[in-house]
Amino acid sequence: MADPVTRVGLVGGGQMGAGILEVNARAGLEVVCVEVSAHAARSAEQRLTASLERAVSRGKLDAEDRDDALARVRFEIDLHALAGCDLVIEAASEDEALKLDLFGRIGRLLDEDAVLVSNTSSIPIVKLGAASGRADRVMGVHFFNPAPVMQLVELIPSLTTSPQTLDAMRSYVSERLGKQPIEATDRAGFVVNSLLVPYLLSAIRMFEAGYASAADIDKGMVMGCGHPMGPLTLSDLIGLDTVRAIGASMYGEFKEPLYSPPPLLDRMVEAGLLGKKAGHGFFRYADA
Ligand code: 3HC
Repeated sequence: MADPVTRVGLVGGGQMGAGILEVNARAGLEVVCVEVSAHAARSAEQRLTASLERAVSRGKLDAEDRDDALARVRFEIDLHALAGCDLVIEAASEDEALKLDLFGRIGRLLDEDAVLVSNTSSIPIVKLGAASGRADRVMGVHFFNPAPVMQLVELIPSLTTSPQTLDAMRSYVSERLGKQPIEATDRAGFVVNSLLVPYLLSAIRMFEAGYASAADIDKGMVMGCGHPMGPLTLSDLIGLDTVRAIGASMYGEFKEPLYSPPPLLDRMVEAGLLGKKAGHGFFRYADA
């Protein structure tokens, strides 16, 4: 990629996608967000507007900057709207088949020197690169939830990513977005989820075994270790479907039992108890 990023495409405006959208729009970048339907696009727009509104009401953003950020964002339902972007960030569900299909389709639409990245937390980047037909210009750029607040971004080059692509993403993340990058090898979980996910799954197993209540497990880690939230609240924030999907990918790669999603997590996902976004997970949420 020859020039700095100015026009960003974002695929998926869900919980993480909307946060990434906000980060880019507030950094002054033009963003086109592609969703699967008009309904999903409206939900993405509502998420973005509500988050910007919250920043205004807390005195973190003035009304003019909110309006400018909103004016830089466009919502579309056709992947062809990504043509002409210098950078496309895929933030669809953590589903390997879906992502491989998207990378194949998006890879064909982009200009020669555009970069295509995934916000995946556990799917092999090298496979996404191969599917895209532009493997040297594909890598992982992994944000953390809530993206407007969390400062870290993991950069994951694959075996086929070019050094120029990694350099371009390093500058985009640190200079353009003002975030803190760390680099990790292309193995499921990268740095943070390799450490975080077995901890979250252990807390779920502890609750499943009746060892302690959900509230006490969380209180233990908040009051005993100074974490901002306990592991069950954090699992609810991330989304139990996402926690399960990441655990399953990591287990698939390493066959490490600590990464294997426990039966209670499977049952909760099957029941639609997906955490905060569904209003109910290990805890109940009034404002979902
Ligand atoms: N969007 C935007 N801003 C938000 C937000 C959101 N969803 N949630 C909270 N904030 C902002 C608030 O506006 C506030 O900003 P201010 O201090 O500038 O006014 C600040 O964050 C603190 O918010 P609150 O006072 O409402 O609440 P807390 O102090 O409890 O903080 C939290 C909320 C930032 C979410 C904090 O509890 C926290 O850091 N939790 C841990 C989050 C975490 O570990 N994330 C990583 C998950 S792993 C991941 O994402 C990887 C993936 O692959 C699974």
